[in-house]
Amino acid sequence: MTKKLWNGRFSQNTDKIVEQFTCSIDIDKELYSYDIRGSIAHLKMLAHESIIKQSEADILIKGLLKINKNIENNKFEYSDSLEDIHMHIEQALGQETGKIAKKLHTGRSRNDQVALDMRMYLKAETKIIMQCIYNLQKELIKTAKKHIDVIMPGYTHLQRAQPVLFSHHLMAYYEMFKRDFERLKDSLKRIDVMPLGAAALAGTTLPLNSEYTKNILGFARVSENSIDSVSDRDFVMEFISTACICMIHLSRFSEELVIWSSFEFSFITISDAFTTGSSIMPQKKNPDIAELVRGKTGRIVGNLVSIITIMKSLPLAYNRDMQEDKIPLFDTVKTLKACINIYSRMIPNIKINNSVMYSASKKGFLNATDLADYLVVKGMPFREAHMVSGKSVAFALSQNKELHELSINELRNFSNLINNDIFDYLSLENMISRRISFGGTAYDNVKKAIQKAEAYLMKVCVI
Ligand code: ARG
Repeated sequence: MTKKLWNGRFSQNTDKIVEQFTCSIDIDKELYSYDIRGSIAHLKMLAHESIIKQSEADILIKGLLKINKNIENNKFEYSDSLEDIHMHIEQALGQETGKIAKKLHTGRSRNDQVALDMRMYLKAETKIIMQCIYNLQKELIKTAKKHIDVIMPGYTHLQRAQPVLFSHHLMAYYEMFKRDFERLKDSLKRIDVMPLGAAALAGTTLPLNSEYTKNILGFARVSENSIDSVSDRDFVMEFISTACICMIHLSRFSEELVIWSSFEFSFITISDAFTTGSSIMPQKKNPDIAELVRGKTGRIVGNLVSIITIMKSLPLAYNRDMQEDKIPLFDTVKTLKACINIYSRMIPNIKINNSVMYSASKKGFLNATDLADYLVVKGMPFREAHMVSGKSVAFALSQNKELHELSINELRNFSNLINNDIFDYLSLENMISRRISFGGTAYDNVKKAIQKAEAYLMKVCVI
């Protein structure tokens, strides 16, 4: 009979196929450093409360630190028969320190242990991702500032709509990432909870001091309900939802970069270092980073579906199903970080083709709303003005011209309120400058938005 840490009541060995099926070590070894830090805090608390001797805690802590080093240096052996990272470390501690290692798990279950590890991991990773988003926002602001005056066509339904500043368009992404940052920051409150003391589910008869363990580990508070402590994976679902929204922002940005870098648009040119070629078509230079980020968004959406489906209908308290939470979580953390980081590097490697964007803004009747507004200023009701402008567009189309290419007499056929000042009124620069409504694309607004964003980033605290 092979020895397992839990097989006192078993008279048969676990079948090999069961060991392979139930083990999670390939995935949860990622948690080793948190598992060890959690165990060290637990031991310090046990000694502080005189549940074990200080000298025993010291030996075990020394052993755990040695195991930490061995794992760090790839001098640690993993085996399916030891199931997960918690068992591996406990078993290794036995080899390191002898019988005394059996005291480590006093007043603790793997159920509250894994909840602790996951919270420690996600608290650290959330802060790293917030830092990544912060860096990306800085790059967006830098680029917006550098190209503050560039005019581009703004789109609705992917049809040319009204001219906007390219910087204004970029700052829209700044706003999206700001919300992602704030969502992560807010979620930290719910991650930052210490579950030890719950043990398997009901709490423990031993006189643990969870407050003490919480303080050593730097958690904000202790979980209020032992059943919830071991059952709750809301923080995982919440993180993946937030990550999913952030990936969707990146994916929408990606789609735009792909379109803008196409020959048809040519609004931007991504540098050679951030594009790839084709193995057959020598002329190709493809926006693969943007495409991959867009593609990986599908995986993260899948991860969200995965975690919420795992949790749906699980009775309280711990169920082994929950072991599956790590796969979507770790993949989401890694993918999101990689995508945000590569975007921060790629953005300064994008050339903005000002003149192409400018010329594009002059074609496609982007000034039709402004012609209507012009008539409104002269006293015509908006619906009537809309009609006049629409008719002018139809006429211009029949002449193969733009509105500003029609003569004053042609325009006056649709309303005699139109005078020579219309041409100046319809210049791209004036159309932009007039959009001074709060959050509109006027130069002064965008300048202020950039200043506001810079001030926000100066005072925002990541860690
Ligand atoms: N590997 C397990 C997980 O990640 C640890 C908890 C196991 N608990 C248990 N009662 N079998 O969920």
